[in-house]
Amino acid sequence: MASDQPIRIISVAGARPNFMKIAPLARAFAARDALAPMLVHTGQHYDERMSRLFFEELGIPRPDVNLEVGSASHAVQTAEIMKRFEPIVVDNRPDCVLVVGDVNSTIACALVAAKLGVPVAHVEAGLRSFDRTMPEEINRLLTDAISDFLFVTEPSGLANLKAEGVPDAKVHFVGNVMIDTLLANLEKARAGRTLEDLGLEPRAYVAMTLHRPANVDDPAVFERLFGAIRQIADDLPVVFPAHPRTRQNMERFGYFAEGGRRMGNVRVIEPLGYLDFLRLMAEARLVLTDSGGIQEETTILKVPCLTLRENTERPVTVDVGCNQIVGTDPDRILAAYRKVAGAETFTCGTPEKWDGRAAERIADILVERLG
Ligand code: UD1
Repeated sequence: MASDQPIRIISVAGARPNFMKIAPLARAFAARDALAPMLVHTGQHYDERMSRLFFEELGIPRPDVNLEVGSASHAVQTAEIMKRFEPIVVDNRPDCVLVVGDVNSTIACALVAAKLGVPVAHVEAGLRSFDRTMPEEINRLLTDAISDFLFVTEPSGLANLKAEGVPDAKVHFVGNVMIDTLLANLEKARAGRTLEDLGLEPRAYVAMTLHRPANVDDPAVFERLFGAIRQIADDLPVVFPAHPRTRQNMERFGYFAEGGRRMGNVRVIEPLGYLDFLRLMAEARLVLTDSGGIQEETTILKVPCLTLRENTERPVTVDVGCNQIVGTDPDRILAAYRKVAGAETFTCGTPEKWDGRAAERIADILVERLG
């Protein structure tokens, strides 16, 4: 029999790519009387432009708790989140802890909940790059292994979880909450002045992001990649809102020295807010990235994406024809760039259930199962 007590859910957000996933979930939870939601921010990301701006733009409620962990090594950051999250769970006795994505905050909070016997819901379960040198791959594998609700975005996630022996009853193919946020905000983003402010013409520039440790931490690896990007920037402007870790590394490697000589025509700017970056992507000729989520967003925007990694955990974006995994070899990047930039038109498909309703499906399932 259903209890008349609301179901207590603690949702966790920690780093920039979590915020656009939490926004539609917070809204769907608040709209259901059966749910009593609470939001915890771990403070993994804390800069104004990496955190607060997203809460404002996306209308995410103010977190009930901020653990303020900040930056540290992986072990220290993960441990600090766990230490500070445990008393929150003990004091609030939630019926479920919901985590999103694959960042350190995701595994840290999932592990705390699982050890306290609280059911864990993982949104964006089942994605696998099969590259265990990526910290996110470790976070994904471990979080899925201890989750009770595995909410999957794409068919590969279903196949991966099946291959790992996860019982079907725990797995729910719901679509993509990141796309819920994109569809809800696209009109507003298109009305913005991002391009005018940056002096760019639609379809006449490249938008780029780079922040993976494997690409940006070693000066030789970074320069090999950046050399190809400099050549692209001689053809079309490349606009690069740089993640703080990338900017710090570029400063250390001397890219801003001598009047920015090693930068060529690449325009490095501060990280953008959600709406500005969405507009920047939506109007670009193409996007260069090593991010996970951007591969998904470009797929819905129908803007070609060249992924500067050797693998992807989001193969549906390649299957529908929007994303190409071009690796980090300069010749390969330049060849792919010329082909895509020179094409007259571009079309690609839309993954199943990326329709703006994923958070609603998740909320319905949690109410039904936990009620
Ligand atoms: C994290 C995620 C990554 C995600 C990325 C998106 C993990 C393992 N990685 O990587 O999956 O794609 O977020 O942004 O969780 N820093 C700041 N200000 C901030 C946050 C970070 O300056 O607000 C700098 C600090 O120097 C910090 C470094 O960035 O040491 C790395 O931050 P961290 O949270 O450890 O990982 P990200 O590289 O941001």
